[in-house]
Amino acid sequence: MRVIKTVEKLQSEIKTLQKQGKTIGFVPTLGALHEGHMSLIRLSKKSSDVTLASIFVNPTQFNQASDLKKYPRTYKKDADLLKKEGCDILFYPSTEEVYPKGLKTEVAIDFGHLDKVLEGAFRSGHFEGVAQVVKRLLDITTPDHLYMGQKDFQQTAIIAHLIEHFKLSTKLIICPIIREKHGLAMSSRNERLKPSQRKKAAILYETLLYANRLKNRKSYKYIEEKALARIEAAGFKPEYFKIINGKNLRAASAKTKYVVACLAVWVDDVRLIDNKILKRDLS
Ligand code: PAJ
Repeated sequence: MRVIKTVEKLQSEIKTLQKQGKTIGFVPTLGALHEGHMSLIRLSKKSSDVTLASIFVNPTQFNQASDLKKYPRTYKKDADLLKKEGCDILFYPSTEEVYPKGLKTEVAIDFGHLDKVLEGAFRSGHFEGVAQVVKRLLDITTPDHLYMGQKDFQQTAIIAHLIEHFKLSTKLIICPIIREKHGLAMSSRNERLKPSQRKKAAILYETLLYANRLKNRKSYKYIEEKALARIEAAGFKPEYFKIINGKNLRAASAKTKYVVACLAVWVDDVRLIDNKILKRDLS
């Protein structure tokens, strides 16, 4: 695996590969890698000739300076994991490389409803930062495929909108959620949970499965209320449990064809998110 730290070197490498007719699969990350990230690398290796990952703790998507400071930086372990998985190139830039002085990188597009709800309602400015860094990374890397996890469902909706808005040729591939043994969605934040809480946090996924069981028998409103009550009864503080239209993130109705249940829950001072597709009628 080649580790590249500058935009110039990376672009020259990519140009050479593209001249050779190779397709490029890109997996952007914040580092602190786990099996969820590795699953994206594996999918990229299956369907792209060259797999490129990036590790960049993007300051513009953290709405609290303390959160940015606390974000785990485990470069050595991450690089080893990527190498073992057969990642071809790791882009590991400095902040100055991603945001050089004088270059306008903000993405001034209207996401409409997409960045106002769910995570957007609780993490002001977060998606502006995500859109900014992903657009910048896509401009640098011009990949054929971009692999992102369904784990961050709203993030995939934002990036799909961004790709469409700028008419980029990159294809977004949304990859399944990888879970721990008891069902908790993998996240670097899980490391901050005490072992007993980590086990108890299985209630999040259990509640998504509960919603899935009820979906044809009860109204979405009823399910949302019961789901919140279940999470509270387990001693956690839910921020939201919403059943939404996966296309536009508005409240789902009985007629909605693409239905997703999304939740955010505080487990002490650790905020976890998860989701489950309840219905996807492609007809
Ligand atoms: P990060 O949280 O490091 O996640 C990188 C990618 O891994 C995202 O696409 C995320 O959805 C995916 N991922 C995380 N946990 C997963 C799991 N349990 N199963 C499957 N995929 C999972 O998301 C970001 O970084 C940043 O916002 C980024 C897109 C890199 C922009 O800075």
